Amino acid sequence: MTSFTDALDLAFTAQSRGCVIFGSPFSALVLEAMQADARQGGVYARLMQPFEDLDLDGVMQAAAPLRPLGWLHALVLKGRAPRLARLYPPNPAPDPEALRAEIVRLAGDLYEEAEAFLTSPPQTNEVRRTLCLLPGFTTIAAETCLPLRTFEIGASAGLNLNWDRFHYRLGEAGQWGDPASPVQISGDWTGAPPPLGPVEITTRRGCDIAPVDVRDTDQALRLQAFIWADQTERMVRLRAAMALAIDQSALPEQADAADWVEANLRPQKGVTTVLYHSVMWRYMPEATRARIAAHMAKMGEAAAPDAPLAWLSMEPPPHMSTRMDLELTLWPKGGLRRLAQVHPHGAAVDWSPEG
Ligand SMILES: C[S@@+](CC[C@H](N)C(=O)[O-])C[C@H]1O[C@@H](n2cnc3c(N)ncnc32)[C@H](O)[C@@H]1O
Repeated sequence: MTSFTDALDLAFTAQSRGCVIFGSPFSALVLEAMQADARQGGVYARLMQPFEDLDLDGVMQAAAPLRPLGWLHALVLKGRAPRLARLYPPNPAPDPEALRAEIVRLAGDLYEEAEAFLTSPPQTNEVRRTLCLLPGFTTIAAETCLPLRTFEIGASAGLNLNWDRFHYRLGEAGQWGDPASPVQISGDWTGAPPPLGPVEITTRRGCDIAPVDVRDTDQALRLQAFIWADQTERMVRLRAAMALAIDQSALPEQADAADWVEANLRPQKGVTTVLYHSVMWRYMPEATRARIAAHMAKMGEAAAPDAPLAWLSMEPPPHMSTRMDLELTLWPKGGLRRLAQVHPHGAAVDWSPEG
């Protein structure tokens, strides 16, 4: 007997709203079609069975509603669901009943495959988040006047390791990078222009507990499948950044963030050592976060004006919000500073640095 629990139902509603807020009305439509089927005890209720013991937080943490959304998009991208593809962008918004009938048919026909796809969490690498990180890096470079040794944790496919090889348009605030870059990033900017001087990178390394290898066709496709189907610009950026990552061989290492930070992060003379991350902090257990914070505080004490240490993060604030915080701690001075409030996918930056 399957039960589509209240927690699951609420999670589908919350996720649909989130999709609308973050610019994907089509994904909301697909989620609503799955939810309508699940409420009647259909195939999507069965697919959600592994999550039925979780409370709302647990369901959202597991990103349960996004899993079947990614599975359907993967079928479309692989060319394995031509009837569904006719209901997907760039075609006009479909009739909700026709959409529901087709996604129910596919989940019934390909049940075991869907079940297997849903066992792993969504894997994303949001390239446009570099628009938010960029003014953090340029601030660090401006304040330390040294080249940067960069270390990213939770780097996913490592696409953002190449952040300095992208070209950026920061609304009215200016541009940065090589205008001929294959990866073009732009977003809205509020506030004064940030420092936009040149940055020299001496080291670019990243780690992830479950890195995506973009050289592997299946893994590359899975990454694309979790881009919302009506967000064409995001897909274009992702594909360009994947090609650049392969070209530059900038790939993340497999490691737990705390182990890796403890093993690699220490100040070095003549360069600024930078730890950075985006939208990964809450994915780690409390003990892992505490180890990283303790290591950085200890290394901060060892930092000096000619061997500075920086910690740059773009993460959600502790309370529910549609904005994230860009924060910086720069040792030897120390002290956490909020630099900006930013859109979770990097579409906008409200630059209002403290201190
Ligand atoms: C939502 S993704 C964000 C990826 C990327 N930072 C971005 O902004 O696009 C979170 C990433 O954190 C990684 N992660 C979770 N726990 C981790 C850990 N303990 N150590 C390293 N990476 C971890 C996940 O595998 C995933 O790739």
